[in-house]
Amino acid sequence: MRVLVTGATGYIGSHTVVELLERGHDVIGVDDFSASVPSVQGTIEQISGQPMTLVQLDLRHRDGVDALIGSVQPDALIHFAGRKFVGESVSDPIQYYGRNVTASINLAEACQRHGVDQIIFSSSCTVYGEATILPVSEANPIMPVSPYGRSKAMTESVLSDLAAAWDDLSVLALRYFNPIGAHPAGILGEVPIGEPNNLLPYVMQVARGERPELSVFGDDYPTPDGTCIRDYVHVVDIAKAHAIALDYTTRYRGFEAMNLGTGVGRSVLEVIRAARDVTARPIPYRIVERRPGDAARVYAQAKRASYHLDWEADPDLHRMIADHWRFERSLSSERRLAS
Ligand code: UD1
Repeated sequence: MRVLVTGATGYIGSHTVVELLERGHDVIGVDDFSASVPSVQGTIEQISGQPMTLVQLDLRHRDGVDALIGSVQPDALIHFAGRKFVGESVSDPIQYYGRNVTASINLAEACQRHGVDQIIFSSSCTVYGEATILPVSEANPIMPVSPYGRSKAMTESVLSDLAAAWDDLSVLALRYFNPIGAHPAGILGEVPIGEPNNLLPYVMQVARGERPELSVFGDDYPTPDGTCIRDYVHVVDIAKAHAIALDYTTRYRGFEAMNLGTGVGRSVLEVIRAARDVTARPIPYRIVERRPGDAARVYAQAKRASYHLDWEADPDLHRMIADHWRFERSLSSERRLAS
């Protein structure tokens, strides 16, 4: 298939492009390089042994998006591009509604105009907000609590409404839990910009000695060790789900959402212990105040993806961290500075 991938040089986008190329798809990637670098294209091609096309475009430009989709005429769109930080979305909501919602509307409109009737959308468990029913299934209410979460939920609504109005359209929203890890080749992974917001990139930088210690945000949550529980899932498993989902979206019409997680919850202290095992580094930490907006426990019920996509994520946390660590150690200081 001819697949247009937005956010193609980002963390999950780049791993997905590798999977698509390895399965023989023709990939046209788009990125504005606001959170990634163009050289990721070379890394993707090196791992997969296949060429891809890469275009620079800011998806908030409606005419540019229309021209791109009109000229590429893809069979399917996989839409990753967007911002993903809860705190940043609170302080700069317009950026989130612009980059996450306006951009998605531009894409949806162009897909409709040019007859692109298969869309896979990169969504998040953040659409559930403070999940009260665990594990979190797709039947949980959509109650996002941040502009970031609302931007994902709004985009799902736009795509769902479009699928209701356009009989031929199939849309699959994949709701990720906490993607971590890196490609086992050791040369592709996430390069955080500035101080990392997410747990594992921070832990890795402490392990490398680049930061003195990790701040653990609260140890008084109602969990066995008092720290928050999340469902960490290998980025390559997430990437594979997208490649499999392309077959699925050819077989049904309408809008559907699926969780992508392992179903296993891990506390912050468990992650630190596993990272110490893998890296053989001390990884000092200090307990600090809770981070506003953090939920105590979030982990997935991913039966829908297992049933429809025949997809399951490997819950081996040590393997995820080992792959992440291999990439971190290969990262040159120039690359780090370039980000
Ligand atoms: C949050 C969002 C998610 C978003 C993701 C990426 C929610 C419910 N989830 O995930 O949608 O995609 O951010 O931005 O809004 N932690 C520390 N110290 C640190 C960093 C993190 O203790 O320095 C803890 C956090 O309190 C949390 C866990 O580690 O319990 C994971 O944090 P993080 O990686 O930021 O992911 P989420 O908060 O789950």
